[in-house]
Amino acid sequence: MKVDSGKQAELFDTFYLAPLRGVTVRVFRQALAECFAVPDLAVAPFIPTVAGSRVKPGLLSDIDKSAVQSVPLIPQLIGKDADQLRVMLREFKNSGYLRADLNAGCPWPFVMKKGRGCGLLRDVDNLARLLEVGCTEMEKGFSIKVRLGIDEPDLLLRSMELINRFPLCEVTVHARTARQMYGGEVRLDVFEEIAKFCRHPVVYNGDIRSVDDFLFLKQRFPQVKRWMIGRGISIDPFLMESVKAGVQVGRDPERLCDFLERALRYSINEMCGERQVLGRLKELWSYLHTGMADGVRLWDSIKICRTVAEYRRVVAAAFERGIVFKIRIASCLPRCYSETKLQGG
Ligand SMILES: Cc1cc2nc3c(=O)[nH]c(=O)nc-3n(C[C@H](O)[C@H](O)[C@H](O)COP(=O)(O)O)c2cc1C
Repeated sequence: MKVDSGKQAELFDTFYLAPLRGVTVRVFRQALAECFAVPDLAVAPFIPTVAGSRVKPGLLSDIDKSAVQSVPLIPQLIGKDADQLRVMLREFKNSGYLRADLNAGCPWPFVMKKGRGCGLLRDVDNLARLLEVGCTEMEKGFSIKVRLGIDEPDLLLRSMELINRFPLCEVTVHARTARQMYGGEVRLDVFEEIAKFCRHPVVYNGDIRSVDDFLFLKQRFPQVKRWMIGRGISIDPFLMESVKAGVQVGRDPERLCDFLERALRYSINEMCGERQVLGRLKELWSYLHTGMADGVRLWDSIKICRTVAEYRRVVAAAFERGIVFKIRIASCLPRCYSETKLQGG
């Protein structure tokens, strides 16, 4: 394990698609890449480590390289046992991956109770064992995705010295505590401290919903060059294209319609049963509708669809009536954001 990682000045911004379990799955990534800008990288939704030396192939289906993988992909695992971590990392390598990411940010209480996800921050000795295994196995790149803490936003900061000891290729920081789950304000002040003390490249994550959000963060953190977006892209699939261009691109309903049809077709090919297919599309629409002017009414009609044919009819009728996108997707970033904008910053 060579300990020679470190920050180097990067000239260009890199944009990552965040892992959203049940949403940013392979068929979503494929449809997204075919219809909109391709993210520079995507972290796949987490795969749990398992006991024993055999990993069922079904567990790896989302990252299967023999299926279409349209976006450069980093597989992610969640677990707390170093031996199990090694087994899974070897499976990743056998599947053709040189990099992997460890989920140290999942906030669900039943996950943390088992010492997984964000719960890893509670036991630094074990975290050290996992990082040791990860960096030894994945010589071409091992990273972690973390939150600021569990109840208070200072735990990650206190673990920074340990994290700095390992040659990680990057650290993705969702700038919230586990207690906040996915709501409340991101703590940009604490993120700033982390970015200062972390010797690895830092990926900013949390609440990028518009080009303005991105430009604000870019101005606030000029040293950060890596940006991860999750829900923002599920609400507005044009967003990756817009942030890459630095301006909001025109949102053409026909492209969105094409994207949805592909996501549906690919899901039908991949999954057995209409319920599963509809479940996946509904999960996507639970985000998508919030970016539309009349989204709530449409969402109400989609939620109750029981067959794919019915779903197709409801969606086709909506596109025939005309989809109106919200002009601005409300920012979730802290107040200082709007203040900066008012001052013309
Ligand atoms: C439905 C859902 C599923 C998620 N699944 C994962 C996951 O598998 N792995 C992970 O590291 N983070 C996961 N996250 C967290 C996101 O990757 C991301 O950190 C969080 O949504 C904040 O970024 P955003 O505001 O850009 O969405 C999930 C979040 C949501 C809402």
